[in-house]
Amino acid sequence: MRGIVLAGGSGTRLHPITLAVSKHLLPVSDKPMIYYPLATLMQAGIRDILIITTPHDRPQFERLLGDGAELGLRLSFAEQAAPNGLAEAFVIGEDFIGSDKVALVLGDNVFHGQALDETLALSTRDVDGCVLFGYRVPNPERFGVGETDLEGRLVSLEEKPVRPRSDRAITGLYLYDNRVVEVAKNLRPSVRGELEITDVNRWYLERGAARLVDLGEGVAWLDTGTPESLLKAGQYVRTMEELQKVRIACLEEIALRMGFITPDECLRLGRRMANSAYGRHVLSVATDEAFRRELVSV
Ligand code: TTP
Repeated sequence: MRGIVLAGGSGTRLHPITLAVSKHLLPVSDKPMIYYPLATLMQAGIRDILIITTPHDRPQFERLLGDGAELGLRLSFAEQAAPNGLAEAFVIGEDFIGSDKVALVLGDNVFHGQALDETLALSTRDVDGCVLFGYRVPNPERFGVGETDLEGRLVSLEEKPVRPRSDRAITGLYLYDNRVVEVAKNLRPSVRGELEITDVNRWYLERGAARLVDLGEGVAWLDTGTPESLLKAGQYVRTMEELQKVRIACLEEIALRMGFITPDECLRLGRRMANSAYGRHVLSVATDEAFRRELVSV
């Protein structure tokens, strides 16, 4: 399965912060926002990842992430000329996707929780149609919401409904089989002039080929698109990291845990950032893992 991080858009709700800088490069606590959606794809075991940015911002993303080889990834970059909608990702990414399945994650979505790894592993295993992820919210009328039958098959999809039939918001992580490219290419722009992801999802829904997986208890989904939610996400990350003694979306640690890189390679990455707490965390997980493997081998 291939992965796409959609990190274009205009970020108008964060003006003036985003007048000169992409929203996805802003810090959420101690790391750039794009680390979080990247971490989500890596946790799903995805190593071939396309990052879609605006033409203007692309060089900065390339400077930050390079070709991904150091993390055991194959990263490539593409541009979205204008914010023409989420579904344009599959048109831009057509060659990258090839004949594979694809996961799309929005560049400003943060997913975190113990149960996430297992949910992702199970959901990416046999994608036949589309898989969406639902998160219970107290104010469903502000979201796209989905309703399922007892088997988890999506039976209705509503955009910002006045009287919602469900409280499960559709989050910014979507899995599709290869048909999504043709579906997206045949879409017509909506009244707001965008290729809508909801129209893609509705195509699958109408064919009984859409599933909605509950993110369930123990998983947090945070949006970072406004000054308030950006600050709240940063506070969440900081609090969780401090109290649980973990580091959220530490790409080097995930790459090590997923077997994408060795402890030695992880150590080298940590040394480069040893002046920051993040870098020291990378160093310590690399050393711990090297030690553990030595113990196992004797
Ligand atoms: P939005 O939050 O809907 O849009 P935005 O980021 O442009 O922000 P604002 O509403 O404040 O103007 O986008 C959700 C995510 O999808 C975000 O990470 C940006 C990305 N995106 C694109 O990359 N291309 C697009 O055409 C759109 C609509 C969004």
